[in-house]
Amino acid sequence: MLDLFEMLGTPEPSTEIMADGAVLLRGAALPFEADLLSALTEITEQAPFRHMVTPGGFVMSVAMTNCGTAGWVTDRTGYRYDRNDPRSGRPWPVMPDCFFALAVTTAARAGYPDFRPDACLINRYEPGARLSLHQDRNERDFANPIVSVSLGLPATFQFGGLERTDPVRRYALRHGDVAVWGGPSRLFYHGVPELRDGVHGTVGRMRLNLTFRGAL
Ligand code: SIN
Ligand code: FE2
Repeated sequence: MLDLFEMLGTPEPSTEIMADGAVLLRGAALPFEADLLSALTEITEQAPFRHMVTPGGFVMSVAMTNCGTAGWVTDRTGYRYDRNDPRSGRPWPVMPDCFFALAVTTAARAGYPDFRPDACLINRYEPGARLSLHQDRNERDFANPIVSVSLGLPATFQFGGLERTDPVRRYALRHGDVAVWGGPSRLFYHGVPELRDGVHGTVGRMRLNLTFRGAL
């Protein structure tokens, strides 16, 4: 398997174990930052960020869009993956090669060499935005891990257990960090408390998060 880190001669990212099956690869996205950000701009020109509504009628503070064969959406009827952007009725933008390659490489580093994402949810947090504790469980096959790439302002990542009430550990996620969870921790509750205000040198007054899934 092609290994981007070896190819570029960049050092292997340092690894922190969050739980059985869950690791944090510090700075793993940094070598690809420029490609990721320019691909992101193209995606959001075709499929702009929007604040979706939960089935309970709440407008999410995190703005979202997607790329890939399927995109995660929520509306009054529920959560689901949709091949089309409900706003345009057209397919989501194609997943850029640099996205796919980073997800495949970091998943392999984390012990999931077979992961091939077909969906990438893109989250935009502005100061004050938050994502309450939840499980990622709308995907068809939980054998696939979740690969989550952080860009821009730092955030706190809460990582709990299989029950909503399980104790959570907190990790600072910084620009370029990649979190991967799967196997025994695939359905662990996780969330992001209110983003603190600040300005990131490259990304500006926001945090962007790319979450890769095997959805279909
Ligand atoms: C998510 O759970 O979809 C996003 C997590 C994050 O923003 O780090
Ligand atoms: Fe999630």
